[in-house]
Formats: sequence, structure tokens, C-alpha cells
Amino acid sequence: MFQRVKQDIQAVKERDPAAVTTWSVLLNYPGLHAVWWHRQHNWLWRHGRKGIARWLSQVARFFTGIEIHPGATIGERFFIDHGMGVVIGETTIIGDDVTLYQGVTLGGTGKERGKRHPTLEDWVVVGVGAAVLGDITIGRGSRVGGGAVVVNDVPPNCTVVGIPGRVVVREGRKIDAIDLHHEDLPDPVVEMFRCMQRRIDRLEARLAGDEAVSAERGEPPFPARPVEPTDEASPSAEAELETGEGETCSY
Ligand SMILES: CC(C)(COP(=O)(O)OP(=O)(O)OC[C@H]1O[C@@H](n2cnc3c(N)ncnc32)[C@H](O)[C@@H]1OP(=O)(O)O)[C@@H](O)C(=O)NCCC(=O)NCCS
Repeated sequence: MFQRVKQDIQAVKERDPAAVTTWSVLLNYPGLHAVWWHRQHNWLWRHGRKGIARWLSQVARFFTGIEIHPGATIGERFFIDHGMGVVIGETTIIGDDVTLYQGVTLGGTGKERGKRHPTLEDWVVVGVGAAVLGDITIGRGSRVGGGAVVVNDVPPNCTVVGIPGRVVVREGRKIDAIDLHHEDLPDPVVEMFRCMQRRIDRLEARLAGDEAVSAERGEPPFPARPVEPTDEASPSAEAELETGEGETCSY
């Protein structure tokens, strides 16, 4: 048992730079006290003393601000930093070396029976104020951002943020999100003019080439012919101008 307590204190020192001495950890970390209380309550719960286990868990909540249901299964070196407002439901399963910050809820969605709380695999970190709801699994080494609401499984080694929670980093690589930079959308009118300008440039170049050939042959320059307007040339929603060189201007 002393070995376990030593491990718990060591885990706090490793994960919180503010935890310098063993005495300060022993005195100032309600997250640690809550876990130690929970181990007793869980023993009572598993040995049929459910009523007293629940009542004692409420006493622990009064002193620590952390509510851990005595039925919750919690692994080694579990650390709740600050702690106030943390709620851990009855069928929650927490692996080893998991860290929670204040205000985290590991709860049910309210619709389920039986296993209705999340499973957090080893080395999971859940940020301040996040809610992980339902019988879902947060994969080993994944991190839940502060304020997220996670209602679906999260694969291992991911970072999930937002409401509803979405994976933004997987195995150290950022996941492309939908581009919401509306100010960078292309202007279709400007694009159309650019396209037409390129087309005019190409036609002028071709015309200049043809005129040069005609001049070499001693032929007269092309007569300027008035262009007859036709219905086909008038713009319509479906119209497409073929440039003849792989480019089309749509409008
Ligand atoms: C999520 C978190 C773990 C960072 O993870 P990370 O893998 O380093 O991810 P990044 O910082 O690269 O962020 C990835 C993206 O998610 C965004 N993001 C990070 N944290 C976020 C959060 N809590 N909510 C919403 N978006 C968040 C970032 O802005 C970034 O977006 P971008 O790609 O558009 O720039 C961290 O931001 C967090 O929330 N930690 C909780 C810590 C905590 O609770 N501290 C309490 C101390 S008392």
C-alpha cells in the first residue's frame, strides 16, 4: 500500500510543475485525497456495502469537490489536478496514468442502462471543463481539449477538441479541417475577367503571327470586318466559352 501511495505522489510531481515537495502534495492536492478515499469506497462497493460506499463518496465530495462514484474502476497513478467539479460516473473505467483537470465530467448521456459511462485507456488526458459522455472509449494516449464535449469513440494518440468533439491531431499529424476562411473565397467575376484576358492575349498573339506570315507572302493585311452579333454569343447561365487551348471560361 505504501508503494502505491509513493507512486501516486510521484505521479503528481511528474505532471504538475507546482508540486515540489512531498508535504505540499500530501496537503494541497484534493485530487489525490479523492482517489485515496475512492479506493476504500470501491472496496466497500465490491463487497456488497453499496449504501455506505455511496454515502462515504458524498462525504469525500464535500471535502474535495470531486464526485467519484464508488463503482468506478480506476487504474494506477490516476491524477486529478485542482479537481473541483469533477464528476466520474458509476460504470467509468479509467486506465493507468490518466490525468483529469478540474470540471471534467465522465458521465452518461441519460438514455443508457448498464455500461453507460466512458472508458479512458492508459495515458489519456482530459482538459479543463471537458465532458466525455456515454459508453465510448478514448484511446490510449489521446488528449481531450479543454471545454470539449466528446460523444464518440476517439482512436489512440489523437487530440480531440470542440463541441461536438472532433479529432484535430492524429498520431502527431494535424487533420485538415473544413476551410472556414470566407474572406479568402475566390471572386467569380474577377476570375472570369482574368480568364477572358488570357484568351484575348492568346488570340492577339495568333492574329499577329498570321499577319506576319501574310506580310511575308506579300498579301494585304486582313480586312477589318464588322462582327455580326449572333444570339449564340449572348451570355446565358450555362454558356461556356471554349478557348481552344484547354481553358474554358464558365459563367
Ligand atoms: C487540446 C490540447 C491538449 C492541445 O493539444 P495539441 O495536440 O497540442 O493541439 P494544438 O495545440 O496543436 O491544437 C490543434 C488545434 O486545436 C485547437 N485547440 C486546441 N485546444 C483547443 C480547445 N481546448 N478547444 C478548441 N480548440 C482547441 C488549436 O487552436 C488548433 O487549431 P488550428 O489547427 O486551427 O490552429 C490543449 O489545447 C488543451 O485544451 N489542453 C487542456 C489543458 C488544461 O485543461 N489545462 C488546465 C490547467 S489548470
